[in-house]
Amino acid sequence: MPAKTVYIETFGCQMNLADTEIVLARLGEAGYGVVTSAEEANLVLYNTCAVRDNAEAKIRGRLGDLKNLKQRRRKAGLDLTIGIMGCMAQREKDHLITTYPQIDLVVGTDQFVHMPQLLQQFEERGRLVATDFGDFEDKLWEAKRGEGVNAWVPIMRGCNYNCTYCVVPFTRGREKSRPAVQIEEECRRLVDDGFVQITLLGQTVDSYGKTLGDGTTLASLLRRLHEIPGLKRLRFVTSHPKDITDELLDTVAELPKVAKHLHVPAQAGSDRILRLMGRRYTRADYLRFVERARARMPNVELLSDFIVGFPRESDADFAETVSLMDEVRFGGSYVFMYSERPNTPSANIADDVPVEVKKARCNHLLDLQLKHQSEAYAKLLGSVQEVLVEGPSKSNQAMLHGRNQGNLNIVLPRTAADGTSRDHLIGHIAPVRLERNTSLTLFGDLA
Ligand code: SAH
Ligand code: SF4
Ligand code: F3S
Repeated sequence: MPAKTVYIETFGCQMNLADTEIVLARLGEAGYGVVTSAEEANLVLYNTCAVRDNAEAKIRGRLGDLKNLKQRRRKAGLDLTIGIMGCMAQREKDHLITTYPQIDLVVGTDQFVHMPQLLQQFEERGRLVATDFGDFEDKLWEAKRGEGVNAWVPIMRGCNYNCTYCVVPFTRGREKSRPAVQIEEECRRLVDDGFVQITLLGQTVDSYGKTLGDGTTLASLLRRLHEIPGLKRLRFVTSHPKDITDELLDTVAELPKVAKHLHVPAQAGSDRILRLMGRRYTRADYLRFVERARARMPNVELLSDFIVGFPRESDADFAETVSLMDEVRFGGSYVFMYSERPNTPSANIADDVPVEVKKARCNHLLDLQLKHQSEAYAKLLGSVQEVLVEGPSKSNQAMLHGRNQGNLNIVLPRTAADGTSRDHLIGHIAPVRLERNTSLTLFGDLA
């Protein structure tokens, strides 16, 4: 075993994956080598998620495995340091240290950038909890990114909304945007390194810039990044329906490198439930956003998240979510069963929807979404799409995978009819004629 080795496991969303890339870069500077299993590591980090109870339950289960591993190491006279970072660390703070004797460090969602110093402190003074907010957005932190053409860049942290069901405002703190110059510098370096498709990240990414106080908006940032030579495609997630301005929609429509793809969670279709959720828009507001987007971009793909089984959601409320889905016909939807989170406002409303009803509603929406998707895909057959080829398909090495302007998954044969490889297309935009589809994937060949 080299002197210092780290194994990290990442749960939750894209933001956590981005944080993992930064903590690995910080640890690399401090001399840590990355290994691919906990068995080989002398530092194990879990970058955790707290958004639903099942996310936390999974991590609690895995902490038991780490306890065993630590005991085996001790018996062999060896050490194992265990650190918990991410949203569960931020939410539970000291409570994790007192409940789980195997945990050495609890490091919050901004403090992880100081991991080498925190490890030093742990060596000198013992177990610690570091969960203050701040410090993250001040600096361009290096990130250790994976292979491929995709890079994810957090452009802001935190969230200033207070949706009644959500832990994110507790786990990520108040909204704060990174300066545009810093983001531009990071993106230029990424493109130089071959990451030609960049996804900008934020909890409510369309409110980017508000905390900078200099008039910067997501639209102005997109214009700025669009100028970077060699950049092929720009995306951004996730948007809040209330912050999508006409300026932003005009910009997305106008700039060719910006994907025609908006992830704007509706969460529910009933005004009564939207009010209980504290979402600050009505069903009619949401439909107006859809109209504004499609008036500018007839082919824009709209993605949504839905929560089913929110407390007091009646059959009539749920029917309104179904009809919203029918009216909009999303390009994709994530559907979640409501999960009561400690200390959130909605935890005070009794969760009166039985779990079987939640499950049935969840399946209903998922089936409807797949039906809409396969119908939409069937209509695209025969058309030619501009596909940014990302690499070999994960499920079939004989195929290449990529996505079109609208973020739809498209695969094509990795070799031409004469047997020559098409791997040179990776990282480039290629015209692909669509030939057949399933409800999740479109298949085609070079046009
Ligand atoms: N900031 C993003 C995403 C937040 S978490 C946004 O506002 O769109 C991702 C999704 O998880 C949410 O959109 C919501 O659909 C779901 N979610 C959040 N809290 C939840 C809870 N307590 N129970 C079930 N789903 C939840
Ligand atoms: Fe959570 Fe709402 Fe903020 Fe999204 S906008 S992170 S759902 S509080
Ligand atoms: Fe992401 Fe989970 Fe935190 S979804 S923001 S890691 S609670």
